[in-house]
Amino acid sequence: MAIWGLLHLVAAAALVLSCPLAPTSANLEGDALYALRRAVNDPKSVLQSWDPTLVDPCTWFHVTCDADNRVTRLDLGNANLSGSLVPELGKLERLQYLELYMNNLMGCIPKELGGLKSLVSLDLYHNNFSGAIPPSLSNLSNLKFLRLNGNRLTGRIPRELTELQNLKILDVSNNDLCGTFPTWGSFSKFSEESFKNNPRLEGPELMGFVRYDTRGSCK
Ligand SMILES: *[C@@H]1O[C@H](CO)[C@@H](O)[C@H](O)[C@H]1NC(C)=O
Ligand SMILES: *[C@@H]1O[C@H](CO)[C@@H](O)[C@H](O)[C@H]1NC(C)=O
Ligand SMILES: *[C@@H]1O[C@H](CO)[C@@H](O)[C@H](O)[C@H]1NC(C)=O
Repeated sequence: MAIWGLLHLVAAAALVLSCPLAPTSANLEGDALYALRRAVNDPKSVLQSWDPTLVDPCTWFHVTCDADNRVTRLDLGNANLSGSLVPELGKLERLQYLELYMNNLMGCIPKELGGLKSLVSLDLYHNNFSGAIPPSLSNLSNLKFLRLNGNRLTGRIPRELTELQNLKILDVSNNDLCGTFPTWGSFSKFSEESFKNNPRLEGPELMGFVRYDTRGSCK
């Protein structure tokens, strides 16, 4: 009967899937982290234990996993890293803490970080990031801590970020942001401290009184 043919096919497929040819082929999260290792300079060799031939990255230093061997934390604050982030980081679906503060990382914040649907804390403060804050970060519905202060970020603060219902701490101070900042939604609890030292930032957006972006270009 056809059902037996189907069952044989399923069994054969299961056998193939349970016997990967190389350990790395089943190690999507390790591959994503290894892409980061390749993209950064690491003078203190803090990433030396990041061996891509291991079955998963859970024994690597500065990486924490859950009981399913999925990555939940990346703790690389103050590690003397330079270079840039990679879009592959957005594949770490269970990542809760992305701690990369106080390094010398540069380039853009990848929009793919908006795919980190478990993320609670995004700490990129005191680096050398440039470009705009990606609006995709508004997809991080579990985010509580967003600290991007002390970089060279430019452009407007994406209005979409006011939809982050769980946001408790926001710090975008000491950048080069421009335009006005929103004061509604989750942003209603933040004071001007969160936005200070952005010389081109004009102040709170006064809805109904001041037209958005009255001083022209904001890039
Ligand atoms: C780490 O960075 C600091 C300051 O940027 C520097 O003084 C120090 O030499 C660096 N250490 C190493 C091991 O590269
Ligand atoms: C920051 O990055 C720029 C290039 O985007 C570079 O010219 C500058 O030297 C970097 N700053 C530091 C402190 O490394
Ligand atoms: C948020 O995620 C949805 C679906 O996951 C996607 O369609 C949308 O483009 C994302 N929003 C942003 C601002 O990236």
